Amino acid sequence: MIVTDGFTGNVALKTGEGTAGLVRDFLRDAFSKTLLSKVAALMAKASLGRFARRIDPRRVNGGVFLGLNGTVVKSHGSADATGISSAIKLAYTLAQSNFTDRLAARVALAPGHAETQRGRAVTRRSAIRGVGHYLPENIVSNAKLAETVDTSDEWIKGRTGIERRHFAAEGQTTSDLAVRAAQAALDDAGLKVDDIDAIVLATSTADLTFPSAATMVQAALGMTKGFAFDLQAVCAGFIYALNMSDALILSGKASRILVIGAETFSRIMDWEDRTTCVLFGDGAGAVVLEAVEGAGTSDDRGILSTDLHSDGQFKDILYVDGGVSTGTSGYLRMQGKEVFRHAIEKLAQTAHTALDRAGLSADDVDWIVPHQANLRIISGTAKKMGVPMERVVVTVQDHGNTSAASIPLALSVAKADGKLKTGDLIVIEAIGGGLAWGSAVLRW
Ligand code: UT7
Repeated sequence: MIVTDGFTGNVALKTGEGTAGLVRDFLRDAFSKTLLSKVAALMAKASLGRFARRIDPRRVNGGVFLGLNGTVVKSHGSADATGISSAIKLAYTLAQSNFTDRLAARVALAPGHAETQRGRAVTRRSAIRGVGHYLPENIVSNAKLAETVDTSDEWIKGRTGIERRHFAAEGQTTSDLAVRAAQAALDDAGLKVDDIDAIVLATSTADLTFPSAATMVQAALGMTKGFAFDLQAVCAGFIYALNMSDALILSGKASRILVIGAETFSRIMDWEDRTTCVLFGDGAGAVVLEAVEGAGTSDDRGILSTDLHSDGQFKDILYVDGGVSTGTSGYLRMQGKEVFRHAIEKLAQTAHTALDRAGLSADDVDWIVPHQANLRIISGTAKKMGVPMERVVVTVQDHGNTSAASIPLALSVAKADGKLKTGDLIVIEAIGGGLAWGSAVLRW
């Protein structure tokens, strides 16, 4: 099918009709010139008749008007009985096949596409309907850590802003934390697990090599339909998971997704390495992302824009020195200063890009909810963006760096504290191993 505006459509139609008429007249002329050609025409009568019918514009008469809640077929003013009957046949076929409804459904599935329904423009968006988190019970203060690690509360607090972190209990796995956060998000959304189409779990510390922690969460929640998978982009994991879930929703492949960030980084700490083991904590956060209708403007609720990057050149400045194919599980290794240097620059840049894409600026931002790695990175990024710290959600003091869990955890805590109001414009941004980084702009 070719969809055009009225003018272009008419030009194309007239060109088609004119060409068909020209060919018909030319053949009629050629076959009536001599006795021989008349005999040839007689012999080819059946084929010529078929050809004439095939190119007869009256047999395809009727232009379909789109964008109306129903089928309208416009016929030629000069159409004869054959033309009118063709137009009626077309209208009948379109009505019989629910053409308008099928077309509307296909348009609604198109990424970010505006459909016209009941006379108003509608854009599919994915919005956060519920949020929740879970933190293991075991809270370890800097002072407690200093009993076994050569460090001090003063150093950790001064260099990172971290005051305490939670550690998973023995035997408690990433999926255990994820299930608790997911259930909290479902409760907050007022939904049951049957209302969910998919689970996307961002983690670098899954329980087992396989199956995915996401399928473990699926089983624990009693969800028997849909699909579930893990996604690994380290500290940027939640941004990546939200981005992919947004794409699934906008493409119509899912309508409600549990997007989870969950980690047990305590399991990959080298307790002999004081430069890293004081920085991380365990936890999980989750959101229910669902399809909503918007007007296609930056006033819409939901995700307005996203921005993702990775650059494997920097894989050696933050990594785990083990994995399945090395036969060890390994420990986290980091050149902290190098990561720090990249972080502020790249985070401010990605946030600006996402805001630009949404047609907004830093002045429009109500809250930055950043990845919680280091208070100095958080404040440095906010400063570079020109957003005051009163508009930044900070939880690093209580959670440490929980990698992929840090943003959904911070969102959940901020909501519980009454900070996030419907309509607030939120920027989330994160960077981590890879390097992988990115951001999203969303309206609460
Ligand atoms: O989420 C993924 C992304 N990760 C991050 O964003 C982390 C980014 N990096 C950072 O946050 C910071 O670089 C750190 C917090 C890791 C380190 O801060 P820094 O200001 O870059 O410190 P540094 O590595 O330069 O270390 C300064 C000093 C060193 O001592 P000397 O050589 O100056 O005598 C370290 O040995 O601090 C010492 N030090 C410690 N002292 C007490 C390092 N770790 C500790 C410690 N306790 N835990």
